Amino acid sequence: MNYVLEMINVTAGYENKPVIKNINLKISRGEKVVMMGPSGSGKSTLLKTAILLVKPWSGKIFLDGEELTSEKTDLRRARAKTGFVFQSYNLFPHMKVIDNITLPLRIVKGLNKSEALKKAFEVLKIVRLEEYAYKYPLQLSGGQQQRVAIARALAMDPVILFLDEPTSALDPEMKIEVLNTLRDIAKRDIAMLIVTHEIDFAKDIADRIVIIEDGVIIEEGEDVLTNPKTERVKKFLRNLGIYSSSKY
Ligand SMILES: Nc1ncnc2c1ncn2[C@@H]1O[C@H](COP(=O)(O)OP(=O)(O)OP(=O)(O)O)[C@@H](O)[C@H]1O
Ligand SMILES: [Mg+2]
Repeated sequence: MNYVLEMINVTAGYENKPVIKNINLKISRGEKVVMMGPSGSGKSTLLKTAILLVKPWSGKIFLDGEELTSEKTDLRRARAKTGFVFQSYNLFPHMKVIDNITLPLRIVKGLNKSEALKKAFEVLKIVRLEEYAYKYPLQLSGGQQQRVAIARALAMDPVILFLDEPTSALDPEMKIEVLNTLRDIAKRDIAMLIVTHEIDFAKDIADRIVIIEDGVIIEEGEDVLTNPKTERVKKFLRNLGIYSSSKY
């Protein structure tokens, strides 16, 4: 199977208001995709719909070749192949860093204690936080907490990692430390779908940039940031301060 994620003609929304409309998005094994778009355009909804945290109204979704939109699919088992990192770290404050990571490994992956510990230290090493294993989340900086959340997602050995504005809640220095961690992870053979407006980071790691507006993918490609084609994307990039029409 070439694609880790396939969204085919997917429409989803809340109550009777459609938020993402007729989305077609395929992500290959190991591919890094950055998604950008104005606030309220449906980026978070698209990520949640990809793993059926929001139920699509129509269309089909395949994860690693398995149809999530089929009623026969055990969603909990299928979702265990993915990792999800939110804007706020969602760590359990009453549990040490190590337990935050081993808990889903034991519950969802069914690992025994020593297997889970081994895996947890493996991923803490990747985010360079081994010495914080026995601290509580509140004893860590925001950036460190987000790196723990990233480690926890990685521990599941996901085929795809979803990251929804992973640095937008962080101070500038912490932002840099988390972005560097994500740059390291991007070198691995794991697909990533990242919502971020960190332009330099996006340019560095993205195989493809997807721009979404009003629930529709309006442009996508390798060079969208440097060579936007539509007036709408040019305007969006101007608002982000990264595109000046006078150059063209
Ligand atoms: N749980 C919900 N119930 C009802 N409406 C929602 C819900 N979550 C999001 N919406 C609405 O759906 C639209 C898209 O929201 P979404 O969070 O997907 O946008 P976004 O692109 O991620 O925005 P931002 O950049 O601000 O995070 C918005 O109009 C929002 O108000
Ligand atoms: Mg969002």
